[in-house]
Amino acid sequence: MIGSGYVGLVSGACFSEFGHSVDCVDHDPEKVKLLRSGEVPIYEPGLSDLISTNSTEGRLFFSSDLVGAVRAADVVFIAVGTPGRRGDGAVDMQYVDDAALEIAAALDGFKVIVTKSTVPVGTARRLEGLIRKARPDADFAMVSNPEFLREGSAIEDFMRPDKIVVGVEDERAEELMRQAYRPLSLRDAPLIMTDFETAELVKYANNAFLAMRISFINELSDLCEATGANIGEASNALGKDRRIGPYFLHPGPSYGGSCFPKDTKALVAIGEQYGSPMQSIDTTIRINDERKMRMVEKICSAMGGEVSGKRITVLGISFKPNTDDIREAPALTIIPELQERGALITAHDPAARENAEQELQDVEWASDPLDAIEGADCLVILTEWNAYRGLDLKAVAGLMQNHVIVDLRNVFDIRQLAGLPFAYHSLGRKTVNP
Ligand code: UDX
Repeated sequence: MIGSGYVGLVSGACFSEFGHSVDCVDHDPEKVKLLRSGEVPIYEPGLSDLISTNSTEGRLFFSSDLVGAVRAADVVFIAVGTPGRRGDGAVDMQYVDDAALEIAAALDGFKVIVTKSTVPVGTARRLEGLIRKARPDADFAMVSNPEFLREGSAIEDFMRPDKIVVGVEDERAEELMRQAYRPLSLRDAPLIMTDFETAELVKYANNAFLAMRISFINELSDLCEATGANIGEASNALGKDRRIGPYFLHPGPSYGGSCFPKDTKALVAIGEQYGSPMQSIDTTIRINDERKMRMVEKICSAMGGEVSGKRITVLGISFKPNTDDIREAPALTIIPELQERGALITAHDPAARENAEQELQDVEWASDPLDAIEGADCLVILTEWNAYRGLDLKAVAGLMQNHVIVDLRNVFDIRQLAGLPFAYHSLGRKTVNP
């Protein structure tokens, strides 16, 4: 497994859990040292235990020795970073290309080389050419095997996937990929064998389609507010149509994270490159971008149009619960904009505070949600951590100076508000006044 980032570590640990012997390679000696000492540099529920069990049982190893790892392997996964390039939505392929060339130099005997990182359409074929040019003598086959892991439930997603997509054009490679995933095919996970380009495109299409659903439901939620309809009941009814299905129909303050924003932009860029525009996704992105300011306006209007000098408590900074990841989190746009308008922000997040402190200025941090709420004029919920669902609203009312709640994840049931002094604003539902 070349690259011990998020995808490499989760995939490496899970493959070792299947009983395979896995070498996780990383250029960064500090990271390797950390992993060898049993520390896991990312926050992912269950990952630390999985790494420690499989390391102890002698199936999972960490090193910077790419050559040694490649020589010992039947299958080499490239799981290095593919950062989005600023501006044009294209992906920076430098790390992938470097890894491919290093692997090429180490090849001895038949190997399967797999792209696991999310890469542009055409990459597997391009890398095949690159490696073939560097090592005309080598015996290898390329495979594209995109991952569909969600942060916060990546282990479960790996162990119980909806599907495994494998772009493969060589029989020996297909057989080795079947062996690698055999424990999952015994659990009936569909193994979809296809060509390189389809496998690569499906990854972008999967994320872009889900992002499109979210932008759709967010617009519908606004329309519910305008018409007096209820988004919860509308989503529920929509989801009962088996052609639509119930997932990814929750309104929110905009999607974030390391994948949706990057992959939607990349799909639009691919469309432009091939002269086959992805207008639906272009619009999806625009709706999502504009939504953050819309949420700021919603908070301001809940506070009577003016937030200057007001104390606003924000609960939840990470882009979704069960992660410390704040990449593209709506909080990073919404909080500075409220500050710009003169609001004083106190914030809490169960996991993302350390990361958020690097990005956000002049925020007062609390280590407990109730401490954060004390003296607030307005409570804004930005991430649906379970800790917030369980808040004692009576205690919250006792702590707040003014009783305005703007719940941008609909974590509270309207009935919970009965008899309490709150003006409660949520998404796609009628405002509750005391
Ligand atoms: C996503 C994909 O789900 C995963 O398959 C892929 O491999 C990587 O990208 P992730 O970024 O971890 O995973 O988060 P996910 O749980 O999919 O949520 C993405 C964003 O959409 C979050 O900001 C979340 O809050 C938002 N979301 C999700 C909604 O606003 N409403 C929903 O109904 C679902």
